[in-house]
Amino acid sequence: MLVSENKATLTVGGKERTYDVLSGSCGPDVIDIRKLYGDTGCFTYDPGYKSTASCESALTYIDGEQGVLLHRGYPIGQLAEHSSFMEVAYLLLNGELPSQQELDEFTWTITRHTMLHEQLATFYRGFRRDAHPMAIMCGVVGALSAFYHDSTDISDPEHRIISSHRLIAKMPTIAAMAYKYSIGQPFLYPDNSLSYTGNFLRMTFGVPAEEYDLHPAVEKAVDRIFILHADHEQNASTSTVRLAGSSGANPFACIAAGIACLWGPAHGGANEAALNMLREIGTPDRIQHYIDRAKDKNDPFRLMGFGHRVYKNYDPRATVMQKTVREVFDALKVDDPVFETALRLEEIALNDDYFREKKLFPNVDFYSGIILSAIGFPTTMFTALFALARTVGWVAQWNEMISDPDQVIGRPRQLYTGPTERDYVPIGSR
Ligand code: ACO
Repeated sequence: MLVSENKATLTVGGKERTYDVLSGSCGPDVIDIRKLYGDTGCFTYDPGYKSTASCESALTYIDGEQGVLLHRGYPIGQLAEHSSFMEVAYLLLNGELPSQQELDEFTWTITRHTMLHEQLATFYRGFRRDAHPMAIMCGVVGALSAFYHDSTDISDPEHRIISSHRLIAKMPTIAAMAYKYSIGQPFLYPDNSLSYTGNFLRMTFGVPAEEYDLHPAVEKAVDRIFILHADHEQNASTSTVRLAGSSGANPFACIAAGIACLWGPAHGGANEAALNMLREIGTPDRIQHYIDRAKDKNDPFRLMGFGHRVYKNYDPRATVMQKTVREVFDALKVDDPVFETALRLEEIALNDDYFREKKLFPNVDFYSGIILSAIGFPTTMFTALFALARTVGWVAQWNEMISDPDQVIGRPRQLYTGPTERDYVPIGSR
């Protein structure tokens, strides 16, 4: 970061103080207020962190006004078009695109970490069969630290990289097993001859009794979905992972915390909610009713898959998603009216003053559920796939944080509005 020539001045209690303004490589400058409390006795107030940069990061850049998303400088559209999820994972972890040899070695390493400790299969059996896959993933990923404690010394860079590889590699196995458990089918072991994504699809949809027929268009589409979800700057779940990690917690526990946060319908759960909403709408003639409900201040209903904290323009991932729906529908010869409903809903919303004024555009979740459903994933698995892909971003961000010599425990402050000090009243006198 650079200290800009501009300074920020703040007058508190009639006294003026000057603060440095820091510049990154692109994006808004930040005012360095680290000394503010010491100088003035005041905190800043920013619930939801709408104006707060919580860290310095060189991984991902978003320009929400322009609808730009870059990983290590590379536009998401180019990565989705030309790259693979393994290559993007390497890029996020290491900062540069790999040579062929580097990519082969990385893929080899990840492939050879895909199996789970055999005892974890027993762990699954403790869950109810109807448990949500995200509930299982929170539990199983958290439990990994009990199985792989030989890689939890976070002060050792080698431990950090081994646990990162383990997490990326085992996540497809964990997610697929969560699905298999819910439908009562046997778990499938990974097959090292397949790609990362092909392996996940086989473990999810294959059965031990017969060969799994991997559809190349499906493999490509899911790999692309993984790329689109790999990282997204300091979103809620990534910030959760960083905050958990800032205390020195082991990476498996931190990623489990990220999964818990991602599960919420305002975050990763939105694609499940978006598809449920589109199915509930059913036919294009019912769209206006839902648009009216979304605009009604007295109705808690929101158009799921619409709006974003950062994007005030079309989410560039939604553009790729929309194109991918067409590819998958063509390849699998799917004819699901839900896509027509989605396209029509998007058109109506984008021409509606409410959505235009509030800059509410489709986000990545608007179309992803349609593709995943066409491929055969039940809605409950959507967020699990998101967690699988986002694990790459989480571990890359966690590594970046732990490697930062200035890293300290995250500890926000508050504006206290509760009772002031008062004396305890015995229960008989209340
Ligand atoms: N439908 C209708 N109105 C909306 C929507 C929506 N989907 N999203 C925002 N608004 C309205 C709000 O009611 C608010 O109106 P007001 O100014 O009159 O009070 C205004 O737009 C701003 O909304 P906020 O909630 O303050 O915006 P914020 O940045 O906090 O929230 C969020 C962003 C949570 C994503 C929100 O747009 C939303 O709930 N969307 C639906 C859920 C969704 O799709 N989430 C996925 C996010 S992407 C991801 O996690 C991968």
